[in-house]
Amino acid sequence: MRDIPPFDEDTVETPSVAVAGLRSAVAGADAVLIATPEYNGSIPGTLKNALDWGSRPGATNAFRGQPVAVIGASPGAFGGVWAHEETRKILGIMGARVVGAGFSLGKASDRLAAPDNELLGQMQEVVETLVSEATARTQTA
Ligand SMILES: Cc1cc2nc3c(=O)[nH]c(=O)nc-3n(C[C@H](O)[C@H](O)[C@H](O)COP(=O)(O)O)c2cc1C
Repeated sequence: MRDIPPFDEDTVETPSVAVAGLRSAVAGADAVLIATPEYNGSIPGTLKNALDWGSRPGATNAFRGQPVAVIGASPGAFGGVWAHEETRKILGIMGARVVGAGFSLGKASDRLAAPDNELLGQMQEVVETLVSEATARTQTA
């Protein structure tokens, strides 16, 4: 993320190495899992910037049709639900295939302090959904 410059529509067709690398990593992946914190009630600017780069060129962007799941965590009680919802919304607008409900983990420091079967189950569901969507996509390609 540090190497990705601020979005500049004039260089969409001639991107930096970091942006080209991001696009090819997404395009070459079977599926994408985004884990994000929440900043000031929204998605971190660095993530939004990376997604803006990933969203262009619009018709052929690397995320289009790609299965993507979103998870989040926060030390706060609400778990970053705004960032979670907004990331899903942005991905949908970009043409990604947002799969499953994902989850936002509140009070993350407490929940991650010891093994937690409920959380493990949620994570397993996210991964299984991604795998099954990716498999279905490969079979229809
Ligand atoms: C600039 C900034 C704004 C933040 N705003 C929120 C927020 O609106 N809601 C929230 O739940 N957590 C917020 N946080 C806490 C982040 O969720 C937390 O830093 C993130 O989960 C990373 O935690 P870690 O440093 O323990 O890995 C904010 C953190 C920063 C640095």
